[in-house]
Amino acid sequence: MGTWIINGRVPVRGQNELATRHLFIEDGKIAAIGSDVPDTNGHEVIDAKGKLVSAGFIDMHVHLREPGFEYKETIATGTRSAARGGYTTIACMPNTRPVIDKVETVKYVLDKAEKEGIVRVLPYGCISKNQLGRELTDFAALKEAGVVGFTDDGVGVQSAQMMKDAMALAASMNMPVIAHCEDNTLVEGGAVSEGEFARKHGLKGIPNESEAIHVGRDILLAEATGVHYHVCHVSAEQSVRLIRHGKQFGIKVTSEVCPHHLLLSDEDIPGVDDANWKMNPPLRTPKDVEAVIAGLEDGTIDIIVTDHAPHSEEEKARGLQMAPFGIVGFETAFPLLYTKFVRTGRWTLEFLLDRMTSKPAELFGLPWGVLEVGREADLTLIDLDAEKAVEPSEFLSKGRNTPFTGWKLYGWPSLTMVGGKTVWSE
Ligand code: DOR
Ligand code: ZN
Ligand code: ZN
Repeated sequence: MGTWIINGRVPVRGQNELATRHLFIEDGKIAAIGSDVPDTNGHEVIDAKGKLVSAGFIDMHVHLREPGFEYKETIATGTRSAARGGYTTIACMPNTRPVIDKVETVKYVLDKAEKEGIVRVLPYGCISKNQLGRELTDFAALKEAGVVGFTDDGVGVQSAQMMKDAMALAASMNMPVIAHCEDNTLVEGGAVSEGEFARKHGLKGIPNESEAIHVGRDILLAEATGVHYHVCHVSAEQSVRLIRHGKQFGIKVTSEVCPHHLLLSDEDIPGVDDANWKMNPPLRTPKDVEAVIAGLEDGTIDIIVTDHAPHSEEEKARGLQMAPFGIVGFETAFPLLYTKFVRTGRWTLEFLLDRMTSKPAELFGLPWGVLEVGREADLTLIDLDAEKAVEPSEFLSKGRNTPFTGWKLYGWPSLTMVGGKTVWSE
């Protein structure tokens, strides 16, 4: 017995339109995609009723918090939240407790994901032991254990020499280095970006250069070592410029952007009490927002990620200055971008979907992210036409920390399938 998903709509390549298609799924794989009304006799039938059928989303930057911070999120809750957002593959950051800097911790995460997770979980390993930036981890052993790249996300690698050594080693084993770009000497306790909001409230601002200096430094080191260097959560106009320049020179640099940096600036922050507007890197100026959008549009920025970063209500109630950095992202990413960029006519649906599916797969050499016969049936059904407000109490994530509460959006996922198995439905 297989499964028919009938009456779905899929984007037609190169044309800004959708076509009705019926998909047959067998043995976990997409076995047929056709336009003729199928004979579904003897098979399970899912009627998509005109909903969009997309390859499942791939998020290469998420925080699942396990092990160590289970009060914020677990692999069980984080993967459910991801599935509800239409994600079928997620790559998790190693700033857990303990950090993912040893084979046993990689194994722990993979084992938990296998037993309790409902989407594919790909762990990253740390660049440095304990993420202290002093000593490299055992890259070969971590690769062998199953990490998909090396990163100290949460903190920047402060030493240029350490970053160069990490890149040379990663390059020798054909692995990417993924960088949270932040020069600590330029940050010193800032909670928001330098800009209108910081000036108005007399706060110390985090300057764009704290990010861009690392981007520029690392692009030169990537050129010297030949590594695939991937820049995390680009937020500053200067970073976009440097990455564009690096790509023009044929340097292997790729990058990602988060929905919040495409949609919000520091001028949107309602006040100093609401830490749901605090994340790292911070919301920048409207000029930076335009620059990251332009960077995504011209291919300087390759993919969209959430940087899903759940924290407890108590932690986020400490106000802008004291609360930890981070907002949740899985359950709002697609509706936000679809509503604000596709429905407004700025992007085609295909453009958005590519940056959440096939492009991340291509960048990191993953076998998912494309809806075609023979591929594993990782997919999501999305209602493009019903409007609904963002309601954090409905989130499957333990985190409720979002600045998008109450936003009226279109494009809500209704069913998510991984390897032919429905893992979440409305
Ligand atoms: O906002 C952020 N939250 N930025 C980071 O770099 C770390 C992350 C977290 O772990 O909470
Ligand atoms: Zn980061
Ligand atoms: Zn992160």
